[in-house]
Amino acid sequence: MSWLKKRVSNNSTERHPEQSNAYDVIGGDKVIKAIAHEFYQQMQQRKETAELLAIHRAPIAESEQKLYEFLSGWLGGPNLYQQKYGHPALRARHMPFAIDENMRDQWLICMRAAIEIHIKKPEHQQVIIQAISTLADHMRNQ
Ligand code: HEM
Repeated sequence: MSWLKKRVSNNSTERHPEQSNAYDVIGGDKVIKAIAHEFYQQMQQRKETAELLAIHRAPIAESEQKLYEFLSGWLGGPNLYQQKYGHPALRARHMPFAIDENMRDQWLICMRAAIEIHIKKPEHQQVIIQAISTLADHMRNQ
C-alpha cells in the first residue's frame, strides 16, 4: 500500500488511478461502512471526545455517511464523495471548525479504535492509521 504513503506525503485527497487495491485488501465497502459507523459510535461513547462531538452541527447519520463516502474513494474504492459533492477540499471544508492538536487527537482516538476493530491485519491497520494521522494533522488550523 505504498500509494497511501505517497499520497500522504503531498497531502492529496484525490484518488490516483494507479493506486493499489487497499480498498479490496481491507474488505471493501462493508468494512469501510463499518469503520465510519464505529468512528461515530466511539465519539458518542467516550468522555474524552465530548468536545469533538460538541462541535458537530449536522445529524450524526449525515456526518457518518459523508465520512464513509470519503473513505471509500480515499482508500482506492468508488469515489462516492466526489461524485456527490465535488472535490473534497477537506482542509477548506474544515475551516469553520477550530481544529487544534487536542481536537485532532480526539478525532484520532475514535478513528484508531474504529480501524482496530474492523481491519483484521495489524500491518494493514498500521499503514492506514499512519496515513490518516498525517491527513488529520493537515486539518489543523490552529
Ligand atoms: C483532525 C481533526 C478533525 C476534526 C476535529 C474534524 C471535525 C469535523 C466536523 C466538526 C465536521 C462537520 C460535521 C458536521 O457539520 O456535523 C467534519 C466533516 C467532515 N470530516 Fe472531519 N474532522 C477532522 C478530520 C478529518 C479527517 C482526517 C477526515 C478524512 C479522513 C475527515 C473527513 C470529514 C468529512 C468527509 C466531512 C464532511 C465534509 C462535508 O461537509 O462535506 N475529517 N469534520
